Amino acid sequence: AARRTLDEIAATTTLDALEALRVALLGKQGSISGLLKTLGKMTPEERTIEGPKIHALRESVTAALAERKIALESAALEARLAAETIDLTLPAPDAPRGSVHPIAQVMDELAEVFADLGFAVATGPEIEDDWHNFTALNMPESHPARAMHDTFYFPDRNEAGREMLLRTHTSPVQIRAMIAQGAPLRIIAPGRVYRSDSDATHTPMFHQIEGLVIDKGIHLGHLKWTLETFLKAFFERDDVVLRLRPSYFPFTEPSVEVDVGYTLINGKRVIGGSGDASGGGWMEVLGSGMVNRKVIAAGGLDPDEWQGFAFGTGVDRLAMLKYGMDDLRAFFDGDARWLSHYGFAA
Ligand code: PHE
Repeated sequence: AARRTLDEIAATTTLDALEALRVALLGKQGSISGLLKTLGKMTPEERTIEGPKIHALRESVTAALAERKIALESAALEARLAAETIDLTLPAPDAPRGSVHPIAQVMDELAEVFADLGFAVATGPEIEDDWHNFTALNMPESHPARAMHDTFYFPDRNEAGREMLLRTHTSPVQIRAMIAQGAPLRIIAPGRVYRSDSDATHTPMFHQIEGLVIDKGIHLGHLKWTLETFLKAFFERDDVVLRLRPSYFPFTEPSVEVDVGYTLINGKRVIGGSGDASGGGWMEVLGSGMVNRKVIAAGGLDPDEWQGFAFGTGVDRLAMLKYGMDDLRAFFDGDARWLSHYGFAA
């Protein structure tokens, strides 16, 4: 009988069947449990003979059940592993990927264009002092031009007693670069700037790129050639036409505002061609001029020895013009649908 029971255990093929068999043998109503109960009714002599036999049976059955359980479990695992093999040669499913933000991309494009013209990248702090942001750029304390820049001021001054503010333009990097590097100098300074302004065409934070060249014998012709070469390379068109208009900035003299011509194609403004052509127009893209003598002196250089030109332009605006976007605020909403509409999502 013992032999048959062990064979039966060894013959089970599923864990469920094995469990059912365990209950039938060792459960409360099980056959071996029944045998154990009979011990109580035996005489001591019978018990010394039958007791060890029944206990030995229970032990061998318990061991056989455990052994079979392990065997069936590992067989089940093997079967699952065999069924779940993956085909590594199948193409992976497309996962959503991030992408470079249009502003970051345009900053990279600008740095590349200017690197070809020999410009290095310079930086300055976004939390600036009023000397670098205004005074050194020929905007003394009472200068009305400070009012043009609706400025975010900090409540406390720095150790040097200077008022601290969020820089309103990248022009303070002109001063920092001259002081740190001397002349000759050829730099661009891309970065974030801040003004308290907010509507469809103004955000309180936006991006500018500054350019500065300091050398001997620099004149307006160098400025015009540089801007023309830069704008043609950036917009990737040879037919970019510039219009220079006299203007005023405290830190340049003379000052020049630069427009680019656009043509209307299906109601969209496309850069290229003279803005006076039928249907087109002119769009202001940057401010520039010959660096004011006072600014060269504030940079620690002798204005009789060194001359230069400077320009500043809005990166966000350039991105909008190049990629046809029409709401500045959308740049900072982080909406993936907007990004992918303009080809910026993976
Ligand atoms: N800093 C000026 C602005 O923010 C732009 C500018 C830069 C003009 C350099 C002239 C020279 O509007």
